[in-house]
Amino acid sequence: MSDLDVAAAEAASCTRCALAQGRTQVVFGTGDVEADLLFVGEGPGAEEDAAGLPFVGRSGKLLDRLIAEEMGLARSDCYIANVVMCRPPDNRDPRPEEMAACRPWLDVKLTHLAPRVVVTLGNVATRALLGRREGITQLRGRAYPWAGRLLIPTYHPSAVLRGSPGAMAGMRADLVRAKLALAGDPHAVAGAG
Ligand code: URA
Repeated sequence: MSDLDVAAAEAASCTRCALAQGRTQVVFGTGDVEADLLFVGEGPGAEEDAAGLPFVGRSGKLLDRLIAEEMGLARSDCYIANVVMCRPPDNRDPRPEEMAACRPWLDVKLTHLAPRVVVTLGNVATRALLGRREGITQLRGRAYPWAGRLLIPTYHPSAVLRGSPGAMAGMRADLVRAKLALAGDPHAVAGAG
């Protein structure tokens, strides 16, 4: 068993925060453990809680489509995780103490996966990882050097599904930016789009 498998097995019975009480199962994360690209979302919804896998509902299907269209990648080429591993009730935002309790599990993933590029999906994941208070509209449009990697914030796919102005075009541009970053292109670091 790899260190990540060991962590996933331990995480399956995690009770470090109150979200443990309402979950069906822990959604640890999924994908290629050797991937250079990590997506970090917010937390599992109902379908993810039932499946034990991140981004399997409508948001996930859109994410899969945009990764394919803008990056030429399949979800199996990436690793996908969330800031919290257990479903917040009624799909509310995870609370600061819940994110703090789950952070060591995310850090384990970052250590063992070692992605070169991290794409954060939406306000919650972007603020949690960048440690900034601005919203995604302000923070997206560039890549940030972060923990020896590049962090590229983008909209959460649910914002695209809700029809938020500019979200679809912005997310597509950010995924192109992530593709350039993976290719080592310096243009990835600058410029809104
Ligand atoms: N939204 C998220 O942020 N993560 C999921 O896994 C599913 C929906």
